Amino acid sequence: MEDRERRALQGAADFDYDDWQQPNLSELGLGCFMRYLILSDIHANVTALDTVLADAKGRWDAAVCLGDIVGYGPDPNEALDRIRELNCVTIRGNHDKAIAGITEAEDFNPVARTAVLWSRDRLTSDNLGYLSNLRQGPVFVDGFCIVHGSIRDEDEYLFVPPQAIEELRIAPTVLTFFGHTHRQGGFMQRRNGLAVINFEPSDRTLIWTLPVEEGGTYLLNPGSIGQPRDGDPRAAYAIADTEKGTVEFWRVAYDIEAVQQRMLDALLPEPLILRLAVGR
Ligand SMILES: [Fe+2]
Repeated sequence: MEDRERRALQGAADFDYDDWQQPNLSELGLGCFMRYLILSDIHANVTALDTVLADAKGRWDAAVCLGDIVGYGPDPNEALDRIRELNCVTIRGNHDKAIAGITEAEDFNPVARTAVLWSRDRLTSDNLGYLSNLRQGPVFVDGFCIVHGSIRDEDEYLFVPPQAIEELRIAPTVLTFFGHTHRQGGFMQRRNGLAVINFEPSDRTLIWTLPVEEGGTYLLNPGSIGQPRDGDPRAAYAIADTEKGTVEFWRVAYDIEAVQQRMLDALLPEPLILRLAVGR
C-alpha cells in the first residue's frame, strides 16, 4: 500500500458514514443516448478483463478506461493489447505513470515498486510508448468527465465526503467517473444533500442501477477489474446509459486461481497474489 493511500484510508476508517446513506432517486435522461462501458484499475489482470468483456458483450456502444491498466498483475502486455483493441478513451493512472517511467514510484511501498520494475522490464516497446503517451485526466467524453484519482489531482484517493464535497463543487459535468481507490460506489450530491454510495459484498451480479436525478451531481467509481479492495473479489465495472439516465454497477466472478498461478510462476510478491482472493 502506498503511504498516500494509507493516510487516506485512515481518514476513511475514522469517518462516520451512517448519516450519508440516502439512496432514493428519480430518473433523468442525459441526452447523449449511448451506453458506455466504464473500466478502471485493470492492473495487468487479463483474465478478469476478458471475463468483464465477455459479461458485458452486446450491452455497450463505447468504452472508456480510467487508468491503471498495468501494475501488480502478471499480464501487462495482454492487458494493454486488449485496451488498445477496444479503441476507447483512456487516461493514465499512477501505476501507468510509474511503469512508463514518468514518475519513479517514490511513494510506492516495496511490494508495489517490485511489481512496477517487473512490469517495466516486460513491456514491448510499442506498449511502453502507448503507456507513456496516455492522457492525464480530467478528460471529457460526450457530456461526462473521467479522472483517475480526482478532478483536482490525478493521484488523490477519494474516500470521504469532505473530499467529495470539494470535488462536486468544481465538477464540470453531472457525471464524473473516477478510479484509484478500487472501491465500487462513490458520492452523489442532490437537493437533500450528499450521499455516499457504498455496497456491502453480495452474490448479486447487477449490484445497483442508479437513476441520475435532475439537479444532482455524481462522482462514481466503477470499481476495479483486476484488484478489487472493497471486500468483493469479483471483477467490477459499470455501464452508463445516457439515454435512460442510469448507471449500472456490475460484478462478475473470474478465475482468480489461474491469475494467482501466473503470478506465482512470475515470482511476483506473495501479498499481491493473496489479496486477489479476498478482494482487499
Ligand atoms: Fe489502481
